[in-house]
Amino acid sequence: MSMPRPLLVAALLIAARIACRLDARPATIAEQREADARARMAGRRATDYALENIREEERAHIARELHDDLGQLLATLRVDMSLLMRQPVADEATRELLAGMDGRLLSAITSLRRIASNLRPHALDEGGLYFALQSLRHEFEERHGVACELVGREDELVLNDRYSTAIFRIVQESLTNIARHAQARRVRITLRRQRATLFLTIEDDGRGIAQADMEKPSSFGLLGMRERVWAIRGDISISGSCRGTKIEIHLPLPE
Ligand SMILES: Nc1ncnc2c1ncn2[C@@H]1O[C@H](COP(=O)(O)OP(=O)(O)OP(=O)(O)O)[C@@H](O)[C@H]1O
Ligand SMILES: [Mg+2]
Repeated sequence: MSMPRPLLVAALLIAARIACRLDARPATIAEQREADARARMAGRRATDYALENIREEERAHIARELHDDLGQLLATLRVDMSLLMRQPVADEATRELLAGMDGRLLSAITSLRRIASNLRPHALDEGGLYFALQSLRHEFEERHGVACELVGREDELVLNDRYSTAIFRIVQESLTNIARHAQARRVRITLRRQRATLFLTIEDDGRGIAQADMEKPSSFGLLGMRERVWAIRGDISISGSCRGTKIEIHLPLPE
């Protein structure tokens, strides 16, 4: 015997409401905790990102001040010094003293340039990310005598300031780590863009990072690198073996 149609519709409606209630049951304690943890993590990342932006702006400001203020002052002093050196001076000792002072002034100007450019990579403003990475690579080779190759296409690396700065800082910290810890002979930095994702890999052929190295409580370089990547919703993996260390990063780019 079949059910009358109005009764059938009512039964179906009641069943649908019960299913709906079951689905919208209050979250269990575990689910609630997980949701809270996710919200806390999202909040922390937003704060990290905001703080990082403030830090970068502050660095850029100090770099400009150093360059425009102290830099100008030192440059003027050096001009004065060269005028003084052209004067007929009385004795050899004075001439030597002046030459020494000029040498120290020149070192001060070079240090100031290096400090200012670490604070805010001038090259990023001058020629964009590709140019800035080339400068970094070149400086690393010159300073440490380790071969460093940069594989990437300039046209794929036209990114906004937030991404360019993050990538520059990540590569900079990786190269500093290689110089300090890896005892490597070769380094390769690869950047490849595939649709809306940027793949960045930094490999060296040194002693290889160990698991325990990544958990050092007093080390902040790798931690900072991870936070930068997460702040722009990317992924990072760091691995080491007897053949060296490899850092792989995927960054989803804004459309
Ligand atoms: N390319 C590498 N090859 C071998 N070991 C590495 C490499 N990079 C990092 N490490 C190891 O990982 C540790 C953690 O690196 P991290 O950059 O976090 O800290 P750090 O360089 O020691 O100090 P800092 O906080 O000044 O960066 C290093 O102390 C080192 O032992
Ligand atoms: Mg470090």
